[in-house]
Amino acid sequence: MATLQDLPNYNHHALSEMLTMMSEEEKNKLTQDLSSLNLDEVAALYENVYVNRHVEAPAGQLTDVETEVKSEMTEERLSELETLGRQAIREGRFAALLMAGGQGTRLAHPGPKGTFSFDEISLFELQAKQLLKISAECNTTIPWFIMTSDINHEETLEFFKEHHFFNYHEENITFFKQPNIVALSPDGQLLLNTKGELLTSPNGNGGIFEALAATGLYQTMNKRGIDYIYLNNIDNVLVKVLDPVFCGLAVESGADVTTKTIRPLNGESVGRVIMADDKKQVMEYTELPEGLENQFTNGNIGIHIFRRDFLEEASTQALPYHLAVKNLEQLDEDFAVVKKETLKFEKFYFDIFRYAETFKTLQVDRESEFSPLKNKEGKDSIETARQALVDNHII
Ligand code: UD1
Repeated sequence: MATLQDLPNYNHHALSEMLTMMSEEEKNKLTQDLSSLNLDEVAALYENVYVNRHVEAPAGQLTDVETEVKSEMTEERLSELETLGRQAIREGRFAALLMAGGQGTRLAHPGPKGTFSFDEISLFELQAKQLLKISAECNTTIPWFIMTSDINHEETLEFFKEHHFFNYHEENITFFKQPNIVALSPDGQLLLNTKGELLTSPNGNGGIFEALAATGLYQTMNKRGIDYIYLNNIDNVLVKVLDPVFCGLAVESGADVTTKTIRPLNGESVGRVIMADDKKQVMEYTELPEGLENQFTNGNIGIHIFRRDFLEEASTQALPYHLAVKNLEQLDEDFAVVKKETLKFEKFYFDIFRYAETFKTLQVDRESEFSPLKNKEGKDSIETARQALVDNHII
């Protein structure tokens, strides 16, 4: 539990100087913010994630992950898996889990990414519609858990309310927030946000597991008889939410983690799903060691099914932080609002794979299953996503 007096001892000189110009009220607020912080841990985070950073391949022998390829499956196999998947959905064994806590800076869309719309249909609605369709077909309800973050929680809720939850039963949607973590200056100092509070930012999508645990949602799922959690990103406009074939594969194998992949293009910005010795891992595209960029044939598209019991147990394990350098608004030493290069610390959800014992992978066709909306223009942009929606007769 840190105090204002600790700041100079931990080299937070800028903030310590700023104290002399703060009102009592501002100091009280800062005291409160600091009280939940351990400055030794902050120093260790800075040292480990920034000062001593180096990109290296995961330990062990790296090989391609074994995968079934959807386009090579016979009609009979596909139909068998679909039947199995639909039966489990009908029995209420599946929940949908959406990660929507990101900022979507590259898209330059004001507001949460899920509110971005193509012909009046938002990314949130695209997913809600699919869940409603499969609920009706299977004559069941599907609990939908949506992770937001401090930066978009209120706006997300507002958007759902305005759109009457897209006809989803309100009691079947649960919003929960991921945690925040401090952001630091490149020389490791704590910063103030534009409101004069300690600058923090969402702790990456890997914050999802601790957030589910902290909000008691694993127990909620357990009580509802949920055995499998279907996780996906917000920005893949072709995502098949609760794809029955994929659900069937997870049920058939009973694997801790079942993953959908695509064949990555040369140098594509997708994580590479690999095996490091006997563990499935994702090497993130931002951290691919030189020489390994084009060596593996399965790209991560952020669609996974987890066994609930595996996740619940693994959520108690620590996940490492990764570095993201972003321009964030903050106060400078004269209390003026500036935008500066800042160190953000992010957990990646797929680092939880290392705790799993059993894995299954399904490689699918990019044309019908993956078109992420990341940028305003160019690759993975509004234009390419719209085209994918049109080509797949979704809009
Ligand atoms: C992500 C994957 C990458 C994959 C690619 C496919 C991670 C770390 N990387 O990359 O391996 O190939 O998608 O499109 O997931 N999010 C939160 N909270 C956060 C940060 C992100 O909920 O603090 C959510 C986003 O809203 C989004 C998802 O996580 O739904 C992925 O985040 P994003 O920043 O878009 O990851 P990418 O860099 O695109």
